[in-house]
Amino acid sequence: MTEIPEHLLKRSQARKGGGDAAAAAAAPATTPAVAASAAPAVAAAKAEVVPAGPPPPKPDIPVVAAYKARKKIPVWAMITLSILPLWLFMYVLALKPIAAKASGPLGEGLKVYSNCGSCHGAGGEGIGSAYAFTNGSVIATFPHIEDQLRWVKLGSAEYVSAGVQIPGDPNREGGPHIAGASGGVMPAAGKGLGLSDLEILEVVCHERYDLGGAEQGTEEFELWCSPEAPAYLALETGEATFDDVHTVIADKGIIEIGSVPVAGTTAE
Ligand code: HEC
Repeated sequence: MTEIPEHLLKRSQARKGGGDAAAAAAAPATTPAVAASAAPAVAAAKAEVVPAGPPPPKPDIPVVAAYKARKKIPVWAMITLSILPLWLFMYVLALKPIAAKASGPLGEGLKVYSNCGSCHGAGGEGIGSAYAFTNGSVIATFPHIEDQLRWVKLGSAEYVSAGVQIPGDPNREGGPHIAGASGGVMPAAGKGLGLSDLEILEVVCHERYDLGGAEQGTEEFELWCSPEAPAYLALETGEATFDDVHTVIADKGIIEIGSVPVAGTTAE
């Protein structure tokens, strides 16, 4: 609302009440004065009026009005919702199967040994014609792990038919073990029992280091049977098999395992 300055109001009232004559008489005298005085007065009035009251706010457009009138999400719900992705992440983590090879060759080998214990005994103590592994016996037969890997993979029948008599150390303390001499048959863990090269390595590590009593931390252990052993990892990733692990890891002096019976090697 624009205020009308006081003196202008008064003058307009006076005109209405004073009649035409007074107005006519006053007019010439007052007009220049009015013109002179009214202009700054109006300007002053304007200057006064503008800051006096802020303009009425424009009504919101419908979208904004709807936004302002919306139902707000309660704080507890916002907190709950914001935690949801974290919860989902933990849920997925919990669902993921534990890495299969977390326990390394020895832990895995213990599981694979369920294929062997019925003949060799749960603790590798030996039953009947199936030799014991304990008290260093299996290490004496196979000073080099490669010869044992080959033997376990191929089994006794292949050695006998190939005419390879001694799968391990010919100078074995207490006499060499001769293929077929025990009177029993050692099944081929590869073709016969269907174990992979990796599983055969795992069970052989278990036989040597858990049952046979070989000392861990040796060069052989670090190359084949520790969880970070390069030969074990090469087999695990499929980079190598028994046929080529000696060339895949070329600088470690690995004896060729291969896929046919070969006479075993001496301790040195
Ligand atoms: C059916 C019974 C049987 C099963 C199952 C069996 N073995 Fe044998 N194992 C034998 C017999 C019998 C011999 C001796 C063979 C011979 O005289 O030629 C033998 C010999 C061995 C030897 C040689 C030990 C030494 O000091 O001369 C090793 C090593 C061996 N087995 C490992 C295994 C592994 C590893 C498994 C499981 C994957 C396994 N065996 C499963 C019966 C078995």
